[in-house]
Amino acid sequence: MSKIASVDALEILDSRGMPTLQVTLTTDEGVIATASVPSGASTGKKEACELRDHDPKRYGGKGVLQAVANVCGPLFQAVSGLCIFEQEAIDQRMIQLDGTKNKSRLGANAILGISLAAARAAAMTKKIPLYRYLGKEEPLLPCPMINVINGGRHADNSLEVQEFLFRTVGAPSFAEGLRWSAELFQILKGLLKERGEATSVGDEGGFAPNLASTEAACELLLLTREKAGFSSREVTLALDLAASEFYDEIARRYVGRKSKFSRTPQEQVAYLKNLVENYPIDSLEDGLAEGDWEGWRLCTKELGQRIQLIGDDLFVTHKAILQEGIREKVANAILIKPNQVGTLTETLECIHYAQENGYATVISHRSGETEDSFIADLAVATRAGQIKTGSVCRSERIAKYNRLLTIEKEIA
Ligand code: PGA
Ligand code: ZN
Repeated sequence: MSKIASVDALEILDSRGMPTLQVTLTTDEGVIATASVPSGASTGKKEACELRDHDPKRYGGKGVLQAVANVCGPLFQAVSGLCIFEQEAIDQRMIQLDGTKNKSRLGANAILGISLAAARAAAMTKKIPLYRYLGKEEPLLPCPMINVINGGRHADNSLEVQEFLFRTVGAPSFAEGLRWSAELFQILKGLLKERGEATSVGDEGGFAPNLASTEAACELLLLTREKAGFSSREVTLALDLAASEFYDEIARRYVGRKSKFSRTPQEQVAYLKNLVENYPIDSLEDGLAEGDWEGWRLCTKELGQRIQLIGDDLFVTHKAILQEGIREKVANAILIKPNQVGTLTETLECIHYAQENGYATVISHRSGETEDSFIADLAVATRAGQIKTGSVCRSERIAKYNRLLTIEKEIA
């Protein structure tokens, strides 16, 4: 009993109006579970392959009908009849059938949809919340990293840095941290209005003003924090530079696309060091490019004892790359995005490996999201400690925060 009886998929839209997959899985006992797959814009080169149709007549080539067909056809054939509680076996079968290193034959988006839906069906069959099913230890609510200013590829503004975030590190509970964040967000909005800046939002719900520089944005966040009445112990700043986006691999230089600068890796590290010295920044993500391991090593040597250095494009949720990073003393934290690797099993393995090796873990959304809140349960179940799922704005982001509020109440 509790076997996979059928799997279906639908081409739906993500928060950017781009097509993605929604997978529905039914067991022989009639349990029906659905999961949706997110999609990134600033993707790492080594991410598992998101299968797109490349049919210029549909969605500018971005359709996912082939991935839908793969779910309903070969992938269903592969997992049909498997016990819903055997997550590893389910994922392994799909990996084997795909047969490629990066899931490019059947699509990581297709595979992940089934993988997540299977876990949800299993939790539903056991009649327990998803976070209980996914976690063996006591659940732990994460500290949110709230992305209040968007730049880089996520906004058509002047800012090179992709994300400016608040971390409510001193909040006594998740709910309080979220309240602080929402209050900070409103105060920031007021300050932007006062300055005649746009208060329209970017892909992840943060504001997308045309500020003069990274430093100007940091100054504004400091002012926001002060106006909101929070101390440096309560609220800190974090940046995601997504530096792979502005790294010239041939020249081995960081070159501004929106603003004018050109830095060697050493200069980029010096620049980051300077930012950390001048602002209360305690977390930097992708401050160096994924291809610049030398820069990463230097950065870790210079800043790794002081602040959190998160590898996103650098590790792409791949345990093998993380292993290399640990060996090479690169970064001290990892961003976890299930769709970078393509199965729940591999995601969990990567999280556990990071934790065993003292690397901090941050569970993350993608810039293209759906209303699915799977990652909220994942963060709680794995005791990740941190979650990054956008601003306190836009329902696809809020869905995750609201889910965390519900979980916190449930386990209280
Ligand atoms: P992405 O951005 O989903 O566009 O990759 C998120 C991030 O870089 O953290
Ligand atoms: Zn990132």
